[in-house]
Amino acid sequence: MFCKSFSKLLIFCILATAALYVSCSNPNDDVVPWTEVRVRINTLDAKYIDLQNINSRVVIKNQGYGGNGIIVYRSSEAIFNAFDCTCTYEQSDTCAVIPDEGNIAGAVCPVCGSKFELVNCGMPTSGKAKHSLKSYRVSYNEPILRIFN
Ligand code: FES
Repeated sequence: MFCKSFSKLLIFCILATAALYVSCSNPNDDVVPWTEVRVRINTLDAKYIDLQNINSRVVIKNQGYGGNGIIVYRSSEAIFNAFDCTCTYEQSDTCAVIPDEGNIAGAVCPVCGSKFELVNCGMPTSGKAKHSLKSYRVSYNEPILRIFN
């Protein structure tokens, strides 16, 4: 009995760990210049408390390329996706996407109007941008979320 429960727990831990390190990796990420990212946030902090809920997102300010910010989307208990807010149309430090009010899993550039799907590796869905948002790796050890290159 103990062995069976332990095996199930072990398998769960392995799968959960694997899920945490799954990140969107696509060749289009290169359009946003590399910037070292090492962010650690506490999801119980009032600024990030929304991340306690599945299907939620927050913007971590002054991080990523040009300090444009990082947008984090939580799609399940264990899966978070983190993207540089830099719009991939111009890759400027003055063009940053914001949460799309019409789509909980979306982001939109307020300047060019490009829209991106956070649940689908930051892919552009409309507008001038043709490249996905730059993604970062994440690990989650409740309540601490780490975002890094
Ligand atoms: S990039 Fe400058 S507008 Fe979206």
